[in-house]
Amino acid sequence: MVRMLSGSDLRVALLMRDAIKAVEEGFRMMAQGKVIIPQRVPLNVEEYSGVMLYMPAYIRGKDALVIKEVSVYPDNVKRGLPTIHGTVLLNDPRSGRLLAIIDGAALTAIRTGAATGVATKYLARSDAATAAIFGAGTQARTQLEALVEVRGVRRAWVFDVLPEAAKRYATSMSRELGTDVVVAKDPREAVSRADIIVTATTSKEPVVKGGWLADGTHINGIGSHYPTTREVDTPAILRARGKIVVDSREACLKEAGDIIIPIKEGAIAEGDIYAEIGEIVNGTKVGRASDKEVTFFKSVGLAVQDAATALAAYSAALKRGVGKEVEI
Ligand SMILES: NC(=O)c1ccc[n+]([C@@H]2O[C@H](COP(=O)([O-])OP(=O)(O)OC[C@H]3O[C@@H](n4cnc5c(N)ncnc54)[C@H](O)[C@@H]3O)[C@@H](O)[C@H]2O)c1
Repeated sequence: MVRMLSGSDLRVALLMRDAIKAVEEGFRMMAQGKVIIPQRVPLNVEEYSGVMLYMPAYIRGKDALVIKEVSVYPDNVKRGLPTIHGTVLLNDPRSGRLLAIIDGAALTAIRTGAATGVATKYLARSDAATAAIFGAGTQARTQLEALVEVRGVRRAWVFDVLPEAAKRYATSMSRELGTDVVVAKDPREAVSRADIIVTATTSKEPVVKGGWLADGTHINGIGSHYPTTREVDTPAILRARGKIVVDSREACLKEAGDIIIPIKEGAIAEGDIYAEIGEIVNGTKVGRASDKEVTFFKSVGLAVQDAATALAAYSAALKRGVGKEVEI
């Protein structure tokens, strides 16, 4: 029998706190060389301006073996559909048997929020209490949830090119998280007042400018994942020089315009990538070193996050009797 876990099953089975723990452990094990994680395979569906990503991972010693297929269709928003759809298959590494089929869109949102939670835990100032969120879509919800979990964020400004989306987000997130979420009238002011910034947009151009940043800010850049697009400009990257942290060097040097474009411009070099987040979790490298430094975490999203989160969700679902058993 195979357990089916829907998006709502995931929300019942897995708290953000537990997802953050699982992803933190996944990053640590990756830094220890215990994760087999082939580069994901992108398949461009140019006719429909979409991309399919095929992402396998195996965490040794954790029995987490998954593959995710996930679609990214930025134009879906015009059709009233989510940008991301996906499915995760969790297999038993001892026999190869399929254990679970999981809603990959919901799992992606949770594990991407969890990655930001981990990075923020190690890189944001300990007294960080305010946030600026760019983009008011699916990812933005779990991003703020994770910030509230690790830093108890009390006030957040949200900015979206669609003012209605920002308004809806502010209302529902304020209610859901008990945090004061307001629509930013001026993105510049939100950035300069926020201790933590998240970019979770489908923008191809920078939404955060270096000139707006106050000392001590931490930025999580999670949206862009093409070499030619970015959400954070070169001056912002230069402000964070010294604490540019990535989920994976290899993946970011292949996919992250936020890093690749400043390298191509000659503003920074590959060696300016300070660490992978797993090295900081692992204790090989230090996280934030002073209240003044600007830190930047770039996430393009790794299958190890899916594997760690899928296993945590599956184990919790078994314990709590959540989900449906089906025969395939
Ligand atoms: N790093 C990861 O692991 C990871 C995981 C999932 C998704 N993503 C990426 O995150 C991005 C957001 O995904 P989503 O599912 O939330 O999409 P979404 O379509 O639900 O939300 C994106 C939001 O960004 C807004 N936006 C676009 N341009 C903007 C701009 N210039 N300024 C402010 N807001 C702007 C859109 O109006 C929309 O509301 C996508 O690019 C997606 O590929 C990354």
